[in-house]
Amino acid sequence: MDLKSYLPKKQEVIDRFLKNYLAAKKVNSNCPKKLYKAMGYSLMAGGKRLRPILAIASYETAGGKSKNIIPIAASLELIHTYSLIHDDLPAMDNDDFRRNKPTSHMVFGEAVAILAGDALLTEAFGIIANTPAKPEILIKIINELTHACGTRGMVGGQTADIIFEDRKIKEKDLFYIHTHKTGALIRASVLIGAIMAEAPPDTLSALSKYGEKIGLAFQIIDDVLDIIGTKEELGKSPGADIIKGKNTYPSIYGLEESKIKAENLINASLKAIEDFDLKAEPLREIAKYILNRRN
Ligand code: IPE
Ligand code: IPE
Ligand code: MG
Ligand code: MG
Ligand code: MG
Repeated sequence: MDLKSYLPKKQEVIDRFLKNYLAAKKVNSNCPKKLYKAMGYSLMAGGKRLRPILAIASYETAGGKSKNIIPIAASLELIHTYSLIHDDLPAMDNDDFRRNKPTSHMVFGEAVAILAGDALLTEAFGIIANTPAKPEILIKIINELTHACGTRGMVGGQTADIIFEDRKIKEKDLFYIHTHKTGALIRASVLIGAIMAEAPPDTLSALSKYGEKIGLAFQIIDDVLDIIGTKEELGKSPGADIIKGKNTYPSIYGLEESKIKAENLINASLKAIEDFDLKAEPLREIAKYILNRRN
């Protein structure tokens, strides 16, 4: 299995869906042009599409074969993009560069950036509701996403991330921040793919564990790249965490120990799916990629 061709192929599938979605009359008619433009500006600015790809890879690992996974996977990218727009706002991380472009609020102003994020989050649930699948499966997916993105997930983690700026925190609080602000949506992406494939409970629990481990590793590496990465590689401005007094893995454990922790998590993620057959190869390769990525 060659991840170098797998990732662009899946990215293209997601990008095509998102482009068609943005062009659809029901989204862009009867809404202020500026809002619609701001949504597309961030959504189509590139991005690795990791969360949708994880959902598709997990779906296929669990034996799923239908194209109906694509809208579900793409909805994850709307939610992720909303989280980036809001994360960059002056009231939050105050960043001016994202996905190789000026951030949404730099281009459209703060109010429209906030509203574009609101719209992307809301529309994601509309995409799910309109996906051809059994209603009980869609409800399970909505439930997982609510859990992963709301108070018990991303928004909870983002709140702690901001509240604890410039304060020395305990290791368990840092673990909470990272597993919630980033880990929860990544784990949910994997789980949702398996739910769409109607995977049995033992498969769901193995994939949930895999998702949990790669999710935390992903944010640890994000912290590491903020120190060792370049603006060209990352498409966002590095060095921002130290300036903002963020609690990160390197700030508490140092660079080397952080990398070891990420490596251990990736090994644990691979262990969680070791009994799976060849269909799980993309998930295995994505786990290794998360550790070695440069953007
Ligand atoms: C960045 O996510 C924000 C974090 C959760 C660390 P990604 O690194 O997946 O960003 P894109 O989607 O590729 O731009
Ligand atoms: C962001 O974490 C997590 C979410 C967007 C939910 P960071 O603040 O570290 O992400 P970057 O580094 O700005 O992409
Ligand atoms: Mg942040
Ligand atoms: Mg940030
Ligand atoms: Mg970061």
